[in-house]
Amino acid sequence: MRTQVGILGAGPAGLKLSLLLAQRGVESVVLEARSRQAIEQTIRAGVLEQGTADLMRELGVHRRMEKLGEEHEGIEFRFRGRGRRIPLKELTGKCVTLYAQHEVIKDLVAARLAQGGEILFSVQDVSLEAIDTERPRIRFRRDPDAPFELLECDFIAGCDGFHGPSRATIPESARQEFVKTYPMGWLGILTQAPPSSRELIYCNSDRGFALVSTRSPEIQRMYLQVDADDDIRNWSDDRIWEELRLRLATEDGWEPIEGPILQKSIVQMRSFVCAPMQYGRLYLAGDAAHIVPPTGAKGLNLAVSDARVLAEAIARYYRDGSDHLLQRYSAICLRRVWKAERFSYFMTQMLHRFSEHSPFEREIQLAELDYITSSRHGLATIAENYVGLPIEWDT
Ligand code: FAD
Ligand code: DHB
Repeated sequence: MRTQVGILGAGPAGLKLSLLLAQRGVESVVLEARSRQAIEQTIRAGVLEQGTADLMRELGVHRRMEKLGEEHEGIEFRFRGRGRRIPLKELTGKCVTLYAQHEVIKDLVAARLAQGGEILFSVQDVSLEAIDTERPRIRFRRDPDAPFELLECDFIAGCDGFHGPSRATIPESARQEFVKTYPMGWLGILTQAPPSSRELIYCNSDRGFALVSTRSPEIQRMYLQVDADDDIRNWSDDRIWEELRLRLATEDGWEPIEGPILQKSIVQMRSFVCAPMQYGRLYLAGDAAHIVPPTGAKGLNLAVSDARVLAEAIARYYRDGSDHLLQRYSAICLRRVWKAERFSYFMTQMLHRFSEHSPFEREIQLAELDYITSSRHGLATIAENYVGLPIEWDT
């Protein structure tokens, strides 16, 4: 088999890249380790920056998003039992769209297959070969008993998430990894209930962080800070609701609307960056190259902006014969990645409880929240990062 761009991974990065390349007349094949059903059902992110939602429109995959998703013009920070609103739209002219990542995946897969694009699901034993030559290859098989096949490419896009094989194919001496782990995780639930709030609530309480998000008029998403090594079996539904009520309580008696819990799981929190995001003809995009803690709602959005830069760089290579933009791919992406890392780290530090904090540090944290939400400049800095910073093509 031969194609121009071999794409590993059918997450937001890989699928958006295949659609953007097709729009620019470049052919690609996507190889995905999981089944179509599995990727279309995994519950993950929900917040699309304005630019991510706009790209859905540009690609013509926006119809279900516009029907099922919801534009939010503000978010709330809650602390000391009171809420303060951050008016995103008023401050930036932009909004975010609440639309579940697995719905985005369904839209992207359907659109790519409808174009006649190739996505091979459930591939096994994937490895990358000759990435430092002009003919890199992906070796894989379609099922455990099938013979190995080779996909020969001009370029390989490693969009295979944090645990995929792409990043590890880059020699250790040719990459630097920056890591920060946090002493907490997020317990996320889906509940069958009407929305508790019109806008998202990010709450810092003495008992730890809590987040009220939404999915639809019938299904809500909420998160609780838990210990990094906590086990979901320690969390009965009653304990989860009790904790959400206590953390989110306000002076005027606000309570979340409860319903049956449909799904619950714990995710770890880390910050991670691999630099550069390229080696030879292998280009990393999305979680394969960087992870952010979920507090800033940036992971999916960063994956999409990498795909945007890579699609443009590869298209220019075929159109003008110039690899100028390809050479700058990593620098352009990393500039935006580090700003998102900064914002996600800042939000995490400001909103969670840290057991090592002294009473002094706790008061500083609350004063920071008070300052940020009462200064127009403080509000604007949160708002412009939350709705998404621009891609800066000029490095
Ligand atoms: P992935 O979505 O991880 O896709 C990678 C794909 O590669 C997977 O389908 C995987 O099966 C496949 N793969 C792996 N190994 C191989 C292999 N060997 N061969 C072929 N394929 C392979 N981000 C936000 O922007 N906003 C949010 O609100 C938000 N909330 C989140 C909440 C939770 C609970 C979690 C867990 C994450 C959240 N994120 C959020 C982060 C976001 O989900 C990820 O950053 C995003 O999925 C990254 O996209 P990706 O395409 O880079 O990688
Ligand atoms: C959601 C996830 C996030 O990480 C976040 O910051 C806000 C909302 C969500 O899944 O809805």
